[in-house]
Amino acid sequence: MCGIVGFIGKEQASPVVLRALTKLEYRGYDSAGVASISDSKILLKKDVGKIAEVQGKYALDGLPGTIAIGHVRWATHGKVTVANAHPHMDCDGKIAVVHNGIIENYQELRHQLEGDHKFVSDTDTEIVCHLIETYMRMGNSLEQAVIAAIQQLVGSYALAVISVDEPNKIVAVRKSSPLVIGIGDGEYFVASDALSFLDKTNQVIFMEDDEVAVIAGDGVDIYNKKGKHVNRKPTKIEWEWDQASKNGHDYFMLKEIIEGPEAIQNAATQDKKHVMDVAMTILRAEQVVITACGSSRYAALIGRYLFSQLAGKFCDVVMASEFQYFASSIDKHTVVIAVSQSGETADVMEGVKMARDKGAKIISIVNVPGSSLARIAHKALYLNCGPEICVAATKSFIAQLVIFYLLSFAMMNKLDQGTKQLKGLSVGVNGSFDENSQKLMVLADKLHEQGNFYYIARGINFAMASEGALKLKELSYIHAEGMPAGELKHGTIALIEEGTPVVAICPNDETYHETVSNAIETKARGAFIIGVSDRDNEVYDAWIKVPEVEDIFYPLSVVLPLQLLAYYLAVRLGKDPDKPRNLAKSVTVK
Ligand code: F6R
Repeated sequence: MCGIVGFIGKEQASPVVLRALTKLEYRGYDSAGVASISDSKILLKKDVGKIAEVQGKYALDGLPGTIAIGHVRWATHGKVTVANAHPHMDCDGKIAVVHNGIIENYQELRHQLEGDHKFVSDTDTEIVCHLIETYMRMGNSLEQAVIAAIQQLVGSYALAVISVDEPNKIVAVRKSSPLVIGIGDGEYFVASDALSFLDKTNQVIFMEDDEVAVIAGDGVDIYNKKGKHVNRKPTKIEWEWDQASKNGHDYFMLKEIIEGPEAIQNAATQDKKHVMDVAMTILRAEQVVITACGSSRYAALIGRYLFSQLAGKFCDVVMASEFQYFASSIDKHTVVIAVSQSGETADVMEGVKMARDKGAKIISIVNVPGSSLARIAHKALYLNCGPEICVAATKSFIAQLVIFYLLSFAMMNKLDQGTKQLKGLSVGVNGSFDENSQKLMVLADKLHEQGNFYYIARGINFAMASEGALKLKELSYIHAEGMPAGELKHGTIALIEEGTPVVAICPNDETYHETVSNAIETKARGAFIIGVSDRDNEVYDAWIKVPEVEDIFYPLSVVLPLQLLAYYLAVRLGKDPDKPRNLAKSVTVK
């Protein structure tokens, strides 16, 4: 949901900002732009399109000056046009602003400002430029003007602001949108994600809500919204930028799928005492609610089965965007487990804040170190799967499953055994990668013109059907639905026609026969059955053989072909699986 970057140092700033922006492109790729200060002027280039396209037209890295800000956009307010691309400027072209978030009261503010200011875009961001301009005209410094401006804003924002009147500083501020400062050697960064500058420094300061940072060439000062100085020491981020390269693959997605077994190993490597402590907190809670969005929610649904089947602990899973409507049932006897790769998803954060305010204990299962969710939680468990760049979750989903397995085993006081089993499994799950890839490529070729796919499964694998369908629709834009196999005949079966692909996830466990029966019902209506199973059946038109594992581990056994099927269909259709249209990896708006 938009990525922002600022840099101030001794070298030319625009190439540094451009490099950082390319690493934030997973956050938005509708438009891109950079503004720098040189010779008491703001120089700005921006356009619609991916960074490479805008760079190709305007050489963003040619802008002179040692201070610059940049932006990649995922449109919220205002269409994808040049005028709406960031950075935005004030009337006199003396202030430039990049923004991630949504200013909810922008219409009222715009009406107030319109008499004295000229607006050139439809964005909510532009009002911020004009508000700062108003306060600077009154004689305030840039930081005073920013502090005064944010008092009027309702909504979420991470902002980086530069002004020709104070050309040696970037003023940055955040509220409910991520913002991290990077401390280099005589050079400083501010960005939506530390990943963007990790090749330069891993010393970071995570900004808190309502804090304002003045980032100058010789240091950083942080103030609270009342203008009082805040002392904050940098922390070190252990991630390496190298982990986020494509490693010779065409797309990050394929590389990240292949990293699945490593993700199992790394997620299963946890501090035993900490996992036991978190598991006991869950076991002892009167009420446990798991909240998450998208793929993370499907991982949570599998976690729910595991908690129940292995540890006899019942819990509920509530979609994060709906969680606020259950506020009246949350109290200090509730444990809320919030699951998020990014740790920044606005819906998750809002639900967690609500639950925390009501006295609930918060446990986060999160990948990005130092993310807002990790910091707001009472206890955090990390996925340890390194940067995930492809917009679609793959290895992080697998790592989330591993954490749920660990917690379930810990609740049974069998953590060592569970850890060993998981690590052992990691060796085999990608075993049939080459063979399955070949088969799935052929299937993608055969089925790429189909308009609808249905995914069915039962029990613990039901959420895998939903996850498989989600991967397919987000990457290939083919409509897909995943559902419990038994539910199909209660309506959806009406949609099955001659040739409709049905992916039947039917591992050789207690669900096998019933799922196969449901597949046969669709076959009788013309469906083309893709069996994802360790056991063959004559009903399958294509059999994707998966490793045979102990029943509870089947989600880890079937995940690979589901991810690969979506990947190959997207590639066959000429789509970029790393950057699906209309999506962004870190969904920081509600
Ligand atoms: C799907 C996908 C999304 C995310 C969802 C939550 O492939 O990636 O559905 O799972 O946006 O994101 P996080 O886990 O960062 O909260």
